[in-house]
Order: sequence, then structure tokens, then C-alpha cells
Amino acid sequence: MSADPLFQLSDVSYSYGSVSALDRVSFRVDAGEQVVLLGANGSGKSTLLLLMDGLIFPSTGSVHVFDRPLTEEALEGDDFCRFFRSSVALVFQNADAQLFNPTVEDELAFGPLQLGLPEKEIRERVDSLTSMLGLEEMLKRSPHTLSGGEKRKVAIAAALSTNPSVLLLDEPTTGLDPRSQVWLAETLVQLRKAGKTIITATHDLSIVEDIADRAIVISEDHRLAADGAANDILSNRELLLSVNLIHEHAHRHGQMVHVHSHSHISDHEHDHGHP
Ligand SMILES: Nc1ncnc2c1ncn2[C@@H]1O[C@H](COP(=O)(O)OP(=O)(O)O)[C@@H](O)[C@H]1O
Ligand SMILES: [Mg+2]
Repeated sequence: MSADPLFQLSDVSYSYGSVSALDRVSFRVDAGEQVVLLGANGSGKSTLLLLMDGLIFPSTGSVHVFDRPLTEEALEGDDFCRFFRSSVALVFQNADAQLFNPTVEDELAFGPLQLGLPEKEIRERVDSLTSMLGLEEMLKRSPHTLSGGEKRKVAIAAALSTNPSVLLLDEPTTGLDPRSQVWLAETLVQLRKAGKTIITATHDLSIVEDIADRAIVISEDHRLAADGAANDILSNRELLLSVNLIHEHAHRHGQMVHVHSHSHISDHEHDHGHP
């Protein structure tokens, strides 16, 4: 684990009008970490990512990033805004909300164009993302004609087009078929080797061990329920039950078996069935 602080959230609460979405959540993420944000539907994961991407701001508490407060005022400063926007990229839960260009190729070039990069460099970035993510056949197509899995790939490629050091992913496996899920896990491994910080919100326990070492768990009352090694959290049945990530039946016959079948480090597998 690197010692560079990247994000520091301190007592962050957020409400949409009268609807509470986060309640005094604090954690720190260091540069180069791969972290999952786990929680049941409605626990506040997407809200956390929006806060970390500077798209919304805490009702109370604070978010710091790169040792600076992440506030509306800070993002009004051109230099910081440009630095932050090129360093941190969010892939939305709903790829349709993110893709708006007429073709996939335009979608990939959009971020670099916004940064004012020279044409030659834009070309190179589009080409390298195309080959890295295997998008050759799709380049001239409209994003809206693509399948769910293809859209997700394009959305990830578009997020990577500015060469961000931090990638925020919101439920990236939603709508992916099993082969695309493997593709996603492999892509994240490559990005991890490239030293990126990757923060993934998910309620899909089966992907956790493939994509992160650390898990931050949000409860249904929008509080921090746990923060620790992904393996420890996946084997903490009581915790997972209490935050509604598993239920009794799923534990014995379904979901946990699914989780274990994906695990590489299977020390908690021995605990299965012997609580
Ligand atoms: N735009 C919104 N307006 C009102 N309430 C919202 C909005 N977005 C999310 N919420 C509410 O905030 C809470 C947290 O939502 P969200 O961050 O989307 O959770 P998750 O991503 O974990 O499913 C939920 O109760 C949800 O209904
Ligand atoms: Mg969500």
C-alpha cells in the first residue's frame, strides 16, 4: 500500500432534499489502491462516487483530494479543475447516461479534445485504447446501437482517454455477460499493473476478490459499516447479513457459493458450512 494520501473523506453526510444518502462517513484511499465500495441497493455507493468525482458536494463534512479540499470553489479554479478532471474519471452506473457522441471513435476522442491535446496525440490515444479494449469493429458505430456489454467497454475506454490516474467505477458488471465480466476483471488487472487507483462500487460479491484488496462497506442506514481487507470482509457472514449483502438462504445455497467459486485466496472457504 502506498503512503500517498489521495482521497480523505471526513464525516461526510449527504442528503437529496430530505432523503439521507450518507451519514457521517469517513475513510481514506491512498494512491495506487484498489478498493471496492460494498453496500445494498440504496446504501449510498453511487452518491459516494459522485462526491469523490466532485459532481456533488457534502451537506456536512469534507472531501479532500490530492491534499486539497474538493469543493465547488476549488473546482472553479481553472488549474485545479483541469488537473482534477484529467486525473479522476468516473464510469457511471448507466452507460447510456455517459455516451452521447455520434460514433464510438468520437466518444474516445472527446476527452482528449476537451483537454486541448494535439491532433496527433489524440489519434494515438484513440488507437491505443481501441486495441487495448478490442474496439476495432465498433469505431464507426453509434454508441446507442451497441449491446450493454459493448457500451460498458466504450464507457470505460472513454473514461481512460484522458489517461486518468484514478478510476471510479459504478456497478461495472451490471449488464455484462460472463465473458465480458472476465474481460472487465482482466482489464482492471492491467490498469492495476499500470499503477492506477481504482475504486469500484458494487453489490456483486462475486467480483470483489478479482478487483480489490480492500473493501469499504456501507450499511443500509448509510453509515460506514466496515473497512478492511477484502478477504476478511467476504468471510464475515454476520457483517454481510447485517448490511443486506447476503441473506440466509443465499448464504447456504446460492450467493456465497458463487462468491467462493470466484475466490483465488480461499482460506475462508474452509469456514464455509462451519460457522
Ligand atoms: N437523485 C436523487 N434524488 C433523491 N434521492 C436519491 C437520488 N439519488 C439517490 N437517492 C437516494 O439516496 C440513497 C442512496 O442512493 P445511491 O447513492 O444511489 O445508493 P446505491 O448506489 O448504493 O444504490 C437512496 O435512498 C436513494 O433512493
Ligand atoms: Mg448505485
